[in-house]
Amino acid sequence: MTQASANVNVMIRAARKAARGLVRDFGEVENLQVSAKGPGDFVSRADLKAEQVIREELTEARPNYGWLGEESEEVKGADPTRRWIVDPLDGTTNFLHGIPHWAVSIALEHKGEIVAGVVYDPAKDEMFVAEKGAGAYVNDRRIRVSGRREMADMIFGTGIPWAGSRDLPSTLREIAALSPRTAGIRRMGAAALDFAYVAAGRLDGFWEHGLRPWDMAAGLLLVREAGGFAGPLAEGAEIFESRGVVAANANAFEPLTKILREA
Ligand code: IPD
Ligand code: CA
Repeated sequence: MTQASANVNVMIRAARKAARGLVRDFGEVENLQVSAKGPGDFVSRADLKAEQVIREELTEARPNYGWLGEESEEVKGADPTRRWIVDPLDGTTNFLHGIPHWAVSIALEHKGEIVAGVVYDPAKDEMFVAEKGAGAYVNDRRIRVSGRREMADMIFGTGIPWAGSRDLPSTLREIAALSPRTAGIRRMGAAALDFAYVAAGRLDGFWEHGLRPWDMAAGLLLVREAGGFAGPLAEGAEIFESRGVVAANANAFEPLTKILREA
């Protein structure tokens, strides 16, 4: 991005700083796989540390803004119109299993609208950045959603809930309805990156139930600024409240939403 705003620069700096600690911890995780207890507690601590680092950086730069993060209580800011929405480690299960596909996600909301988003994938050193009205970028290169027209040529990402989740049956029905009409479905394990991949034209679309604001906020802006569409899975719902989302390139958005709603 040639002229990132001051806010975006603050977000990028915070994401990189948290990522440095996470990369170190990720190196340790491999060693812990063989221990009987596994790396669970270690990863929880890594996640918390990363959130702390991000919070310190953002709060120091913008003391008035509010805060909504995965690992801590929501804080209302002195400026009630602006808040950070942060997932310090999206793709925790991948991280825990030593799979190098996870990200730091930071968004800025102003008057209920996402105005800036950063999703950083340290393993591939890919920094996805979007600012409202200024487009979407990866490592300073402009990105756009794919131009594919035929569902049969497209691949889609989703999240498959774990056993016992009330969203599992509907997700399985949706996969059954969609799979035969497409070139394939991926479950990559980090929602923030699923959105970023739709924005970059790697995935043609993505949907998931049960997501929280920090999984989606930065990603939604990335997709929209890359020329794609994003909306609620359930007709007329509000995305953050209903927790279900569908995002896709302009050609896929309508047919994809229809198939999912009818499944
Ligand atoms: C999870 C990941 C995953 C998605 C889950 C999320 P976390 O976030 O984004 O891809 O399927 O719904 O909860 O827990 O790794 O931050
Ligand atoms: Ca997450």
